[in-house]
Amino acid sequence: MPLINDTPAWARLAAHAETMAPRHLRDMFAKDPDRFQRYSGAAAGLFVDFSKNKIIDETLDGLFALARAADFDGWRTRLFNGAAVNVTEGRAVLHMAWRAEAGADFAALGAPVMDDVLRVRAKMKAFADDVHAGRRKGFKGDALTTVVNIGIGGSDLGPAMVCEALKPYAIEGRDARFVSNVDGTHLAEALKDADPARTLFLIASKTFTTQETIANAASARAWFLQNGGRESDIPAHFAALSTNKEAVAAFGIDTDNMFEFWDWVGGRYSLWSAIGLSIALYLGYDNFEKLLSGARAMDAHFEAAPLEENIPARLALIGIWNRNFLGMGGHAVLPYDQYLARLPAYLQQADMESNGKRVARDGAPVTYDTGPLIWGEAGTNGQHAFYQLLHQGTQKASADFIAAAGSHNALPGHHEKLLANCIAQTEALMRGQTEDEARAALRAEGKSEADIARLAPHKVFEGDRPTNTILMERLTPETLGALIALYEHKIFTQGVVWGVNSFDQWGVELGKTLARAILPQIEAGAGSGEHDASTGGLLAKIAEWRF
Ligand code: F6P
Repeated sequence: MPLINDTPAWARLAAHAETMAPRHLRDMFAKDPDRFQRYSGAAAGLFVDFSKNKIIDETLDGLFALARAADFDGWRTRLFNGAAVNVTEGRAVLHMAWRAEAGADFAALGAPVMDDVLRVRAKMKAFADDVHAGRRKGFKGDALTTVVNIGIGGSDLGPAMVCEALKPYAIEGRDARFVSNVDGTHLAEALKDADPARTLFLIASKTFTTQETIANAASARAWFLQNGGRESDIPAHFAALSTNKEAVAAFGIDTDNMFEFWDWVGGRYSLWSAIGLSIALYLGYDNFEKLLSGARAMDAHFEAAPLEENIPARLALIGIWNRNFLGMGGHAVLPYDQYLARLPAYLQQADMESNGKRVARDGAPVTYDTGPLIWGEAGTNGQHAFYQLLHQGTQKASADFIAAAGSHNALPGHHEKLLANCIAQTEALMRGQTEDEARAALRAEGKSEADIARLAPHKVFEGDRPTNTILMERLTPETLGALIALYEHKIFTQGVVWGVNSFDQWGVELGKTLARAILPQIEAGAGSGEHDASTGGLLAKIAEWRF
């Protein structure tokens, strides 16, 4: 398969981008009152407005042709059929199976998976129900009210983000804490006021070999034993979420307390699987099911809708237009919802670990940009931090604005202000402010002509910054499930067009290997000449200062 920028579809879009360059979004809206109708759509309870992107019909036609040149339909079919779309590891990618209903027929590399999925799901439900009903108790006979999930990356970010997002649905008196960082501070702070007799630890690790998680799990166990728990109490207080039975047993967790998943779900796509047990414990199993059902609705849409009507695919293709043809270096995720504060961090892993790739599936270096830098912050906080650069910086970025029409905490006037800011930002980024408008505003403030001349250039906003707006009626388990699945399918589609494997992550390995080599030197308090001058010098400085 040729690299995607060697196709006629790419060349056509590149030529089209030149004709679009002199146009401004503000004029495009002025000339076309139907833009909003034409360039928006809905799926699974989410409404997506694409119209504040620099697109016209010809752009979309070109992007659909690009997706076809990359064999989008073929890859989508292979994804849902459980073929080895993770080509470097020879694995199927079937997170959709984890949210499918009984009767679905997902198979990984030809082997049916639904019986396993339904078995683990039933075990998760029984476990969560037992904890909630007090049938499963702590070593003093108390209810297990605090869940501490110990995991990192995909074994942390998804459940942590979901538990935060759906706090209004939490079962009263339940607490979910997440420990990921190997920095002892993270675990120490999480356990400071925890009661060991009421604490349930979930050790979440797909591989069960991750250095940070194993270190935190060992320290959690030591804390439990030092604070009243006995070895014989470990089964009541520790469970494992993993694909690696041998390592779980070797760690000392009873494999009856293990919730399995398999290598055909990637870590960053695993919150729907056993890795979601903390969600079921915090929100109740029914709400976990509702989360799955929202994602399932988005899966059904993504699988069946033609490209022209496919919301995740359109989001993906417009992202490619912004990145590869309009030169947007970054993409901001801007949820105007405090409950979604962890969504940017979650999407950093989902997107950057998936599509931050430099070679195509066959190993040939790509000669175009792949995944953008993703960052973000809950609105309105971001406005008072980095939006200055979005509006007037020289490095341009695209953005997704996400909001719910209704709030779970309707303090008088707050939600109206939040929504006003959200919509106003998309308008400001789109239309900007011309120098004439800046001058008129300064004049209206009564400024002198000298001040107007001095200040006007600073008050010019170029505008023409592309944004998507994703609206939902309310943030619920269902709409959150749909939102996460929307992004998963967007990421998949972009990976297909860029021709990369979105489901491996070799780029995280080198640092891990070097850390393993450096660890004994830190432990021994020795600088070492084996390294370059900077690395050796830093090790020597640490050895000098450590106490
Ligand atoms: O180092 C990256 C990574 O492999 C992620 O892809 C993964 O989500 C995370 O580490 C945690 O891995 P595990 O669940 O195996 O502990």
